Amino acid sequence: MTNELITVALPKGRMLEDSLRLFTVIGANGLENLRESRRLIWEDTTSGLRFLLLRGVDVPTYVEHGAADMGIAGKDVLIEQGKDVYEPLDLGFGFCRLVVAEPIELQGNDDPRAWSYVRIATKYPNITERHFSRKGIQVEVVKLYGSIELAPMAGLSERIVDLVSSGKTLAENGLVEVEEIMKATARLIVNRASLKTKYRRIKGLIDRLAEEVRALRS
Ligand code: PRP
Repeated sequence: MTNELITVALPKGRMLEDSLRLFTVIGANGLENLRESRRLIWEDTTSGLRFLLLRGVDVPTYVEHGAADMGIAGKDVLIEQGKDVYEPLDLGFGFCRLVVAEPIELQGNDDPRAWSYVRIATKYPNITERHFSRKGIQVEVVKLYGSIELAPMAGLSERIVDLVSSGKTLAENGLVEVEEIMKATARLIVNRASLKTKYRRIKGLIDRLAEEVRALRS
C-alpha cells in the first residue's frame, strides 16, 4: 500500500450521520471530529483515508475534478448536475423524493393534466425543466438555494419542486404534493481517473462498503 491517502468527500446535512457511520464501520478512525467540531478536513493515517466535509451539492464537483477520489452524493444532485463520475453503489440511506407541490388552497380545483404553463421555484432547474417539457408544459423556473417552501407563501411562484423526506416542511408551510418526479438515495461516487490509478485501494473500499450496505439491508 502506498502512503498516499484516499480522499473522501462527505456531505454535510441529513446524510452526514449515516456517511460517518458507514466509513467508521469499515475502519476509519476519529470521524467524530467532523461531527463535533468545525473542522472541514480529517486525516486518518491508520486507515489511509482523508475526509473532506462539504455542502452536498459540491461533492460531485470535488469528485469530478479529482480533488476527492470518492464521495457520497444524493441521486437527486447527481441527476441534476450530470457530472462525469463513476457511480458504483447505492448506499441505501438518505431516502427522499423529489416532488411538485402547491398551496393546499389551489389543490381542490386544480388538475395538473390541464396545465399549459407553470412557474416553479426550485433548487433543481434542470430536472424541473426536463420533467415539464417531457409533459409538454411550458415552465418558468425560479432558481433558489434553500427554503423553497416559502416561495408560494411569499408570492414568488405558485408551485415548487423540492425534496420531501418526512413531509413535515411541506405540511407546516401549507403545501401539498401534486406529483412525484423521482425517488433518491445516497450514492457512492468515484473519480474516473482515481479508479484507474488507485484501482486496488479504491476497489477494496468499494467492496467493503458494498458488503456493509448488504449487511445493513439484510
Ligand atoms: C430539505 C428540502 C426540504 C426539506 C424536506 O431542505 O429541501 O425543504 O429538507 O424535509 P422534510 O420532508 O423531512 O420536512 P434542507 O433541510 O436541506 O434545507 P434547505 O431549505 O436549506 O434546502
